[in-house]
Amino acid sequence: MLRASLFFCLAAAVVTGRPQDGHGHSMNDASDQDTAQDNSVSLVKTANKEFSFRLFSALASQPDNQDKNIFLSPASVSVALGALSVGARGDTHKQLFTELGFNSSLLNQDQVNQAFGQILGKNGSEDLTQGTAVFVDNKFKPTPEFLDTLKQSYFTDGFTVDFTKTTDSADTINKYVSDKTSGKIDKMVEDLDEGTVMYLLSYIYFKGKWKKPFDPQSTQEDSFQVDENTKVPVQMMNKEDGFEVYYDQAINTSVLHLPFNSSCSMLLMLPAKMETLEKNISPSHVTKWLKWMTKRHTMFFFQNFPSRHHIL
Ligand SMILES: *[C@@H]1O[C@H](CO)[C@@H](O)[C@H](O)[C@H]1NC(C)=O
Ligand SMILES: *[C@@H]1O[C@H](CO)[C@@H](O)[C@H](O)[C@H]1NC(C)=O
Ligand SMILES: *[C@@H]1O[C@H](CO)[C@@H](O)[C@H](O)[C@H]1NC(C)=O
Ligand SMILES: *[C@@H]1O[C@H](CO)[C@@H](O)[C@H](O)[C@H]1NC(C)=O
Repeated sequence: MLRASLFFCLAAAVVTGRPQDGHGHSMNDASDQDTAQDNSVSLVKTANKEFSFRLFSALASQPDNQDKNIFLSPASVSVALGALSVGARGDTHKQLFTELGFNSSLLNQDQVNQAFGQILGKNGSEDLTQGTAVFVDNKFKPTPEFLDTLKQSYFTDGFTVDFTKTTDSADTINKYVSDKTSGKIDKMVEDLDEGTVMYLLSYIYFKGKWKKPFDPQSTQEDSFQVDENTKVPVQMMNKEDGFEVYYDQAINTSVLHLPFNSSCSMLLMLPAKMETLEKNISPSHVTKWLKWMTKRHTMFFFQNFPSRHHIL
């Protein structure tokens, strides 16, 4: 079984991770607080990276997903579940923390909120539009602190709607997302249950230009080997140039680094066995690849993938 796996912007997330600040000897309160906050940011970032790969491996191993492409934005899932944990208590809260990889002896909810606030408050790449919003039924009154925290730390817009009017509320949500993504995502929701109390949504829209553009003239139809027995015709882009590449012997996988003209980049992985890659990939692999990649003259063919996707 062969399947295309795309990791958008993951490299950027890894590369822009803050270096450990190990200097500074002053012991005043302000710097202690800063250090504590830096520490929570770094714990949350590390947990988010690990969550990305755990989520991917879990999805890849689902029987329903065999032979399907998997396209996801794990950072959006972390942010949405992080926002959800603000309103959760008891076992639900515990489970959210465990799944997100937040160790409750090292991080409490306030620290997680502040960390997300710092991570999301930085301007990301101009190629990327992302955000979250919460739509609350007008008969349901969440505590003001809940909405305040979502606004402050997760930059979540809050709205009140009447979910008993299913078409109107779907239109409101779709219009909001369409406005936020310049019309690129115009149908986020279709059928809403009239019993809905709250709808937390996360959207992401990415449109990058390659640092070294492909020549559309050399895109041609070619056959793509889906598995041992299936070939399908696809539009294949190709390029011959100096690219950063790495061969990871431990998992028999070739990696090629394809930068966008921004802080984002794409990593393309060609495993000898897809299963080995899917089972083993972790943040440390990506760190290793980016560290040891070398520029080589490479010719490669790459399927021109559709520009629109529904993202999990
Ligand atoms: C959480 O952190 C504590 C203190 O560092 C550690 O002892 C414990 O093993 C950690 N738990 C998990 C699940 O990593
Ligand atoms: C982020 O970008 C927006 C719009 O481009 C700008 O108004 C804002 O000041 C920037 N924030 C930071 C922290 O750079
Ligand atoms: C990688 O390939 C070699 C040679 O084909 C094989 O011996 C080895 O078991 C493979 N390693 C993994 C992790 O699949
Ligand atoms: C990349 O971005 C720079 C700065 O925005 C711009 O001048 C340049 O033309 C861009 N290159 C490509 C290939 O789009």
